Amino acid sequence: MQGNFTFHNPSKIYFGKDAVENIRGELPKYGPVVQLVYGGGSIKKNGVYDAVMRILNDCGKTVIDDGGVLPNPTVERLMEGREKARANGTDFILAVGGGSCCDYAKALSVAVWEEDPEDFWFKYYERFEKPAEDAKIVPAGCVLTMVGTGSEMNMKAVLTNTQKHWKRGGDLGPRAAFKFSVLDPAYTLSLPYDRMVAGAFDIFVHLCEQYFSGTDDCVSDDLAEGLMRSVVKNSRRAVLDPQDWEARSNLMWAAALALSTVFGCGKSGDSMVHQFGQSIGAYTGATHGMTLSATILPYYRMVLADGLPKYARFAREVWHVDPAGKTERETAEAGLDALEAWMRELGLVMHAREIGVTEEMIPGLVEGTRVRGFYRKLTREEMAQVYRESI
Ligand code: NZQ
Ligand code: ZN
Repeated sequence: MQGNFTFHNPSKIYFGKDAVENIRGELPKYGPVVQLVYGGGSIKKNGVYDAVMRILNDCGKTVIDDGGVLPNPTVERLMEGREKARANGTDFILAVGGGSCCDYAKALSVAVWEEDPEDFWFKYYERFEKPAEDAKIVPAGCVLTMVGTGSEMNMKAVLTNTQKHWKRGGDLGPRAAFKFSVLDPAYTLSLPYDRMVAGAFDIFVHLCEQYFSGTDDCVSDDLAEGLMRSVVKNSRRAVLDPQDWEARSNLMWAAALALSTVFGCGKSGDSMVHQFGQSIGAYTGATHGMTLSATILPYYRMVLADGLPKYARFAREVWHVDPAGKTERETAEAGLDALEAWMRELGLVMHAREIGVTEEMIPGLVEGTRVRGFYRKLTREEMAQVYRESI
């Protein structure tokens, strides 16, 4: 049964080769001052910065440089961007980069005219409020260069609070969604191998987290199974040849779709893998997808018995496990074994120690982990066990 839901995704997607040219038609809709958000410099090496600047100049925009937004953006860095936007009267925010720049840009669009900057974190990341209907929000768009998070087509923005050692996702609502997102697979071809596979795995986990909930049949799950198979197939092709356009373009569209919320329609979801991964990210600053690969197997093996029919269905439908002669549990376990084999093929991080996690961090990691499971709600001791096993 498909449960009740409201679906509203207002981001316009321009997809394909030279798609960036479409922003010539978008930029005139906004005022002259554009705050250009980018990361540590990859866009200056692969030509994307020049392509975007050419268009901004042609459109007569005044560009406020907001480069240096590093992976896993912090609320402290966001406040620097807020000051810059207020001082320059930013009319539009353009993010050029991966999920970190996209999330920063969406959070910035809400933060600029928030009256109390001190309260921003508490309001959106602890009380989980949404901007008021009449809140002043600076419009934003993106040119995506890294595939995985789906930030280009959703309303979430993940930020880290370094003082608390907490990394959390805020849902800022449809008014903070990008007005447009440019998805040109060519812009992703310069990604280092480990970022490419980490991104592919991130897509897969987003689908799993919407899938592993509920007990009966629904369209969202049928769609998710199809896209999961596609991500596995295309990631394998991309591993063999990272320049394979077909594979890379398929992954790029898969990423945007996977967290566009369409697969979660009418479902509650189980985002524990992201809760574990984000807690690790807050401590180590590790690559997002690798924090997920380090924790997914201990967690799924811990809760497998609680959601047995769904894990068995995952095995059959996504991994083509033949249930003949197997108990339901054996089928379900074979599905997780197949998942593990694919993760090893990609060369993902399989142990949290590889990304700097130590036993001493476990109490703090548990403290920063929100409980958002479905088939079973973990106790603090069980969460600690997942971290211990992941190391
Ligand atoms: O900073 P630069 O120099 O640009 O280098 C980046 C960065 O070091 C590099 N890179 C990006 N595009 C490149 C490239 N290098 C070469 N060529 C290119 N074309 O890749 C590195 C990682 O970039 P980042 O944006 O941090 O990666 P990702 O897209 O994985 O984003 C991760 C952030 O998104 C959050 C994560 O928690 C993390 O903070 N997420 C956001 C979500 C959302 N908004 O819905 C959901 C996700 O689950 C995730 O939590
Ligand atoms: Zn993710």
